[in-house]
Amino acid sequence: MEYQELIAQAVKTKEFAYVPYSNFRVGAALLTTSGRIYTGCNIENAGFSATNCAERTAVFKAVSEGEREFEAIVINGDNHDYLPPCGVCRQVLAEFCDPDTFQVIFAKNQQDYRIMTLGELLPEAFRPENLKSKKQTETS
Ligand code: THU
Repeated sequence: MEYQELIAQAVKTKEFAYVPYSNFRVGAALLTTSGRIYTGCNIENAGFSATNCAERTAVFKAVSEGEREFEAIVINGDNHDYLPPCGVCRQVLAEFCDPDTFQVIFAKNQQDYRIMTLGELLPEAFRPENLKSKKQTETS
């Protein structure tokens, strides 16, 4: 799979980043299995913990429009290296994405990127299945 368009959209959406505190822009582009793309930027807040990362912005936009199945996400930051997703974003991705097949692409630009699966980034994740009670598991 070629991720050129997804990378281009992640880079472009950085222009909307709201980053008065860190001045560090991040853009993300999330690909659904049906082929749609949802972009997201980081949105900071004076109460720092209320800041939303670019990846979560993209996921929440997509889910709030009815999407549930995802194939890949590109992350592009204003740094000079590959930008891996933070732990909270990995957990949010683990709610919806297959650990073995979902591709996380850290892109410096359209030519230079690394790809890892979600499972490599968050092994042994706490997932929806883990909330099933013992009784439910015995009867199913
Ligand atoms: N940030 C992201 O948007 N995604 C990441 O994966 C890492 C961090 C944002 C949050 C904050 O606005 C800024 O980068 C500095 O942490």
